Amino acid sequence: MLKIKNLRKVYTKGVNTEALKGINLEVEEGEFVGIMGPSGSGKTTLLNIISTIDTPSSGDILIKGQNLNKISKKELSIFRRDELGMVFQYFNLLDSLSVKENIALPMILNKEDVKNIDNEVLSISKTLGISELLDKHPYEISGGEAQRTAIGRAIINKPSLLLADEPTGNLDSKSSNDVMQLIELLNKERKTTTILVTHDPKAASFCNRVVFIKDGLLFNEIHKGDSQQQFFNDILKMLSFFNNKL
Ligand SMILES: Nc1ncnc2c1ncn2[C@@H]1O[C@H](COP(=O)(O)OP(=O)(O)OP(=O)(O)O)[C@@H](O)[C@H]1O
Ligand SMILES: [Mg+2]
Repeated sequence: MLKIKNLRKVYTKGVNTEALKGINLEVEEGEFVGIMGPSGSGKTTLLNIISTIDTPSSGDILIKGQNLNKISKKELSIFRRDELGMVFQYFNLLDSLSVKENIALPMILNKEDVKNIDNEVLSISKTLGISELLDKHPYEISGGEAQRTAIGRAIINKPSLLLADEPTGNLDSKSSNDVMQLIELLNKERKTTTILVTHDPKAASFCNRVVFIKDGLLFNEIHKGDSQQQFFNDILKMLSFFNNKL
């Protein structure tokens, strides 16, 4: 469902920084892939390019056979709206809107029927365990609740690809675990293809496969067998190999 071919990114403002040096990666429909690697290795750059927030310097990205380099701006914005869901470390919720309105925003922007919107928000907020919070505002809820709200917003349009950059980076371990269980549930039940960037080996152990990036290049990847605990240990081993800060 996702094909990345020889992707390069050079930031040219000020000093030139070659953030991605030729990434090749394929992700199958329904996969749950983690991306790990040292700070500055290019993880966010990669995710921002997949999510069309940023553009590559060269190389191609195909999502469901569509080459994102070759479609117009208008097509790109429709594509983003219909196919992609995004979750960030700092939640990016709008304080002026209620939890309910934040979740519903993509459907409101799509001018969908109010009744449909209400039904979807109710059903999603139940899954996410935030149905009691719908009338509150983002500054009146906890970090874990805010991230669950952001996940609600990311999935309300039933995206085929969910992209998450450090979604647990600002959460305590309990909330972090809740959020990861939810992302795992969505991946299993809705078959939403999911890519997660994380520093956290526990969060990464929810994935089926973890890809390691170093200095803008894919370095290695490991797959989960039957046991999440064993996978967690394997990830730890890889990270210690990287001499990474945990
Ligand atoms: N907007 C930008 N302009 C110039 N250089 C940038 C920009 N964004 C990132 N970089 C550089 O590109 C490289 C990769 O950065 P990136 O943010 O992708 O790393 P990362 O793996 O996400 O790191 P972290 O784990 O700290 O979030 C770094 O050297 C960084 O300094
Ligand atoms: Mg980053």
